[in-house]
Amino acid sequence: MASGNRVVTYMGPKKLELQTFDYPKLVDPKGNKTPHGAILRIVTTNICGSDQHIYRGRFPAPKGMVLGHEMTGEVIETGPDVHFIKKGDLCSVPFNVSCGRCRNCKERHTDTCENVNDEADCGAYGFNLGGWQGGQSDYLMVPFADWNLLKFPDKDQAMEKIRDLTLLSDILPTGFHGCVQAGVKYGSTVYIAGAGPVGRCAAASAHLLGASCIIVGDSNSERLKLVKDAGYQTVNVASETPVADQIEAILGVRDVDCGVDAVGFEAHGNGPGAGEDPAAVLNTLIEVVRENGAIGAPGIYTAGDADAIDKDAKAGTYRIDFGKAWIKSPHISAGQAPIMHYNRDLMMAILWGRMPYLGKLLNVEVVPLEKAPDAYKIFDQGSPKKFVLDPHGSVAKAA
Ligand SMILES: NC(=O)c1ccc[n+]([C@@H]2O[C@H](COP(=O)([O-])OP(=O)(O)OC[C@H]3O[C@@H](n4cnc5c(N)ncnc54)[C@H](O)[C@@H]3O)[C@@H](O)[C@H]2O)c1
Ligand SMILES: [Zn+2]
Ligand SMILES: [Zn+2]
Repeated sequence: MASGNRVVTYMGPKKLELQTFDYPKLVDPKGNKTPHGAILRIVTTNICGSDQHIYRGRFPAPKGMVLGHEMTGEVIETGPDVHFIKKGDLCSVPFNVSCGRCRNCKERHTDTCENVNDEADCGAYGFNLGGWQGGQSDYLMVPFADWNLLKFPDKDQAMEKIRDLTLLSDILPTGFHGCVQAGVKYGSTVYIAGAGPVGRCAAASAHLLGASCIIVGDSNSERLKLVKDAGYQTVNVASETPVADQIEAILGVRDVDCGVDAVGFEAHGNGPGAGEDPAAVLNTLIEVVRENGAIGAPGIYTAGDADAIDKDAKAGTYRIDFGKAWIKSPHISAGQAPIMHYNRDLMMAILWGRMPYLGKLLNVEVVPLEKAPDAYKIFDQGSPKKFVLDPHGSVAKAA
């Protein structure tokens, strides 16, 4: 058994440190034994836009917290109450920590598990949500392992497709969930706000669901280029031309059937040089999604952002055009994505070659764990890459 565990810790805004913690034990954050848990040797662990909210000091997190919630790993130890997952299994870890026993889990809402966080019905690794240690590390303890882990059917086949399969722990199911919430189906027209990794996964998901016209909006030209190169339409939200006009130029009408918010509370406004405006994306979606259409909002909103632009935003109350929205009979859904709801089916889609466009669109770059601070910095500056950490050099070895 290994002795130490290298981890990426948050030490304050834009300050990360690689530290060495103890090798994980089968215990939960309160010190209770977790015989239902497993220890994983991490194969890939991705950096997410959600980590960036923490990195920038905009999403509250304690100093010394281990970051990371997008893990794939090999099981190297199982507790006595783990019956089906075995040592040697290569598994994707849904970022939601869930118990599989409460009402919400039984109803497949693993995003709102009642038993893994005393503060709120919702837990995750590497957030201030239940104290579950993050997985940007060499090793990780996963509780309720039989329930939480998604086992890949064949390890060699999985390692061949690991750059796509690594997206199953969060952003691909999250993008897909945003599209499902937005009612995307065959023939739908879709506007996705945000060309970050989640927005690009939402575009790939809309494609898989059979959408007709897929439009992605952002101000980041490098990210929009990836979208365009994959064959989707783009809108530059920083242009003088309003988003609805740009949609009309593409589609011939000013509205779409479905809207996805893949941005969240750190949104900037529309138009040249617009500053931060946390309500901008939701208000744009309310404007451009047609009557009776739907909006899926996986982008994160929080009441804990001390650096928000005004008192309302600091409290998480935004200036949403609800009166304008109401008359259109809209459907708006938000929250964490219940990863387990989608991860198996999306794994099958990847393994059977149904999402061949994912690789180019997501533009994954694999780097060693010790490069995490550099990767966070580059991603924070709007890089068009999705950074994946490879603590043990497993991806390099498999290639
Ligand atoms: N609900 C969930 O379960 C879940 C899971 C993963 C990520 N998220 C959240 O999804 C969001 C996106 O994640 P990401 O990794 O792609 O982040 P990201 O920060 O890399 O990308 C966000 C993009 O939005 C763009 N943007 C800003 N304002 C905009 C506007 N008005 N219109 C269009 N685009 C605008 C930015 O330029 C940026 O490219 C984040 O808030 C993240 O925390 C939620
Ligand atoms: Zn994530
Ligand atoms: Zn539960």
